Amino acid sequence: MCGIVGYIGKREAQNILIAGIRRLEYRGYDSAGIALVDNGVNVIKSQGKVAKLEEKLVQNGNLTGFLGIAHTRWATHGAPNDINAHPQTSQNGKITVVHNGIIENYLTLKNSLHGYQCQSDTDTEIVANLLEHNYKDNMLTAIAETCKTLKGSYALGILCSDTPDILYAAKKESPLLVAVGEGENFIASDMAAVLEHTNSYYLLDESEIAILTKDSVKFYDFEQNELQKNLLYADWDIAAAEKGGYPHFMLKEIMEQPKAIKETMNPRIINNDINLDGIEIQADKIHIVACGSAAYAGLIGKAVIEKLARIPVEVHLASEFRYNDPILSPNNLCIAISQSGETADTLAALRYAKKCGIKTLAIVNVIGSAIARESDNVLPIWAGPEIAVATTKAYSAQIITMYLLALKLAKTTLPTEKFQSLLGEMQTIPEKVQSVLDQQDIIQKYAKEYAKRTSIFLIGRGVDFAAVTEGSLKLKEISYIHSEAYAAGELKHGTISLVEDGTLVIAAATTPHILEKTLSNLQEVLARGANSLIITTEALSNEVKFSANIIKIPNIHYLFTASLTTVVMQLFAYYVAFELNCEIDMPRNLAKSVTVE
Ligand code: F6R
Repeated sequence: MCGIVGYIGKREAQNILIAGIRRLEYRGYDSAGIALVDNGVNVIKSQGKVAKLEEKLVQNGNLTGFLGIAHTRWATHGAPNDINAHPQTSQNGKITVVHNGIIENYLTLKNSLHGYQCQSDTDTEIVANLLEHNYKDNMLTAIAETCKTLKGSYALGILCSDTPDILYAAKKESPLLVAVGEGENFIASDMAAVLEHTNSYYLLDESEIAILTKDSVKFYDFEQNELQKNLLYADWDIAAAEKGGYPHFMLKEIMEQPKAIKETMNPRIINNDINLDGIEIQADKIHIVACGSAAYAGLIGKAVIEKLARIPVEVHLASEFRYNDPILSPNNLCIAISQSGETADTLAALRYAKKCGIKTLAIVNVIGSAIARESDNVLPIWAGPEIAVATTKAYSAQIITMYLLALKLAKTTLPTEKFQSLLGEMQTIPEKVQSVLDQQDIIQKYAKEYAKRTSIFLIGRGVDFAAVTEGSLKLKEISYIHSEAYAAGELKHGTISLVEDGTLVIAAATTPHILEKTLSNLQEVLARGANSLIITTEALSNEVKFSANIIKIPNIHYLFTASLTTVVMQLFAYYVAFELNCEIDMPRNLAKSVTVE
């Protein structure tokens, strides 16, 4: 979603800030803007992409100055236009603000601010006006007083025209960090924005204010007490946040999956046993809360944990969880799965579970994220930075974490031989994912053949059904083709009426004991004019006795096939979108990190 970058230092700030917000483009946005301090605060903003903002800067003779803030905005309050873009400036021009998050009480605040007229529809302009209203001669006091009246979530970058050599920041519930360089300092909503300049940073915690000059950073709570914070080090290098020769981040991230999977799995397999970073997990029932692909990873988790450990698992869409009055007992465990660790619905579900008194475990990629910090325990997936909006390697790492969890929970009940054999098979996944990736030409050929279809169904049973839910999401989000995932046996209860000549039905059929059933369901749609594409294992492909297009994945225990079928479906979706010239890394209407409910 929205992105913030701020700079104070010895270099001209414009290009540093523009490069910074470019690195945040992947988060999804619909307008951008920049403010630089040089004889007052000068602001340029534009609807659309950063490239359009850059054109506008050139038309205006560019901005100069060594202090500034920039923003990419994903519209919440008010349309994505030039006026609503950030930075927003206060009525008398003293304060300029960029803001991520939502101010929930902005209308009440607006009505209480007598004498102020707003130009935009944003909640952010109210913050700028409030700051100006509260400012007498001390910005720390003005920020602290203002923040105490704000309800909702915010990360704020703030300039004051009276202090042309100070950058201010404040945060509650929306990520923000302060990165430290030599004779220069930064604020950013995401380390990717500043990685090319420094790896050292402080994470702003809840209800904290930062005051930056080019040579110093100081932190305060909302009572204006100075705080001591630990300097952190980001070991993600800049190459990890760049395309590295691939046309899209998504393809790069698909190709990185063998490595990402190894990094999730290998450190947790010690002496033929599973060690989940020392965390002992006990539960008589597990509730998984997550959104989108992370929830689909949860479905794989449910299938594998229930099968191996015989512990009941319920997967809740996080946005529904707390409104459904879920039945929770003290010995239950709530697992929140989230790549970003900032998804508002997942965070709210986690907080609800905590409030109900049950233990929580976070499975996240972004380590210092809110979900990680608020959970009782955290299992990072270590997939590395994921830039493309559509998740690929993080999803794969999430399902590996589900396998690890299932095996760990099943250790005491499974016969040793069975446990060891599954553990061994699981460790073959990276090389088998690589051999699926090596088939990208075949998958691309099918993608080209089917790219013009207007409706595509994906079917499967059991683990295969859980896997096609993610395959279908990948296809619709990046190629904009209508697609549905169906339990293979369910099609005939209604949806089969949509099948007509040329409808494509993709079947994941990798589970030996139900293969025949899935193939029968496929025959049913073929008889109604559909075309089919079957994803199955080398061994099971011999069981397909009718003519069909088949993509073969290496043989592996059926509980782990989702790791391989997923990669086929990711590549298929990628190449379909490529064929259709879609904006693959930043699909329309989507954001990487969904920080609104
Ligand atoms: C789809 C996708 C989304 C996310 C969902 C949750 O490709 O990426 O469906 O999975 O928005 O995001 P996180 O995992 O960051 O909580």
